[in-house]
Amino acid sequence: MLNRLIAGTLPLLPKRFVWLFSRSYIAGETVDDAMAACTDLNAAGIKTTIDILGEFIRNMDEAKKNCEEYLALIDVAQRHGIDGNYSVKPTMFGLLIDAESCYGHLREIVARAAGHGNFIRIDMEDSGCVDLELDVFRRLKTEFPENVGLVLQAYLRRTRDDLKALMDLHTPSVPLNFRLCKGIYAEPGRIAYQRRDEINAHFLQDLEFMFQNGVYPGIATHDRALVDGALALIDRYQVARDGYEFQMLYGVTPELRRTIIEAGHTMRVYVPYGRHWFGYSTRRLKENPKIVNSILKSILLK
Ligand code: FDA
Repeated sequence: MLNRLIAGTLPLLPKRFVWLFSRSYIAGETVDDAMAACTDLNAAGIKTTIDILGEFIRNMDEAKKNCEEYLALIDVAQRHGIDGNYSVKPTMFGLLIDAESCYGHLREIVARAAGHGNFIRIDMEDSGCVDLELDVFRRLKTEFPENVGLVLQAYLRRTRDDLKALMDLHTPSVPLNFRLCKGIYAEPGRIAYQRRDEINAHFLQDLEFMFQNGVYPGIATHDRALVDGALALIDRYQVARDGYEFQMLYGVTPELRRTIIEAGHTMRVYVPYGRHWFGYSTRRLKENPKIVNSILKSILLK
């Protein structure tokens, strides 16, 4: 109860307080910080997907700057030889202001990654963005079949239908590549399943559909029950080691991450960095208010 109360007032908290929590979950503010984090992860046998923090911009000048920042990031990461790809949030490029210009920016970013033989993952944002993001993905996937993937959220009631509808873009030689996660945004019951058991059941059903149809899934979860469920499906469908990967957020459940890696599965970590860490952090804290306890402890025990 107290945790929830504190979590609800997070945006009002002093930045320094939130940073105490954030420093474990964010690579830092600069591209150099991101390169250092990715180099360390790569050395531990972990692939990365780098995300520049920011979303829901106010004008298209910001979209242009964000696009330039991503283009520079891709060039820097390629020069560093990072074993990883990139994740983007379309609202950071003006999806809800000018969808066509947003598409232009994303196309430029995917083209730059494709030039390096690399890959861009389109993150899925709240339910008001889903149709637009599916459309952006469809267009980019048609032009750059090997260089773009999408996120699907198991909590959305529509996801299975979306998944089936997207299968027309799938070919065995260039499989669809979807990150499957639970979904992080607060959505009403008519749009999204609310109960944990319902969400988990749909997660595993969506994953099973992907394995049955040769889709390459990024299994994005820190939930032990889902990891076990995914491993059972991998076993049942005899999926080859290069037919899927696990994905986790930077700094989250490192123990579980280690057991998955030690069992020989591919692991990719989502590495967020940038100046806009405050919004990202308060969202993470709201999602998992129990963390507030650890912050309080870390302050009180200093
Ligand atoms: P669950 O929430 O049950 O967490 C299991 C346990 O993991 C918790 O008990 C806790 O110990 C730990 N944990 C989970 N999240 C934590 C956190 N943030 N901080 C600290 N501990 C945490 N969502 C979305 O809507 N669109 C997207 O594009 C993405 N992208 C994405 C990429 C990757 C790589 C991951 C792993 C996740 C996302 N998500 C996302 C977020 C996702 O939808 C979901 O909200 C979180 O992963 C939490 O769900 P879990 O499956 O981990 O289970």
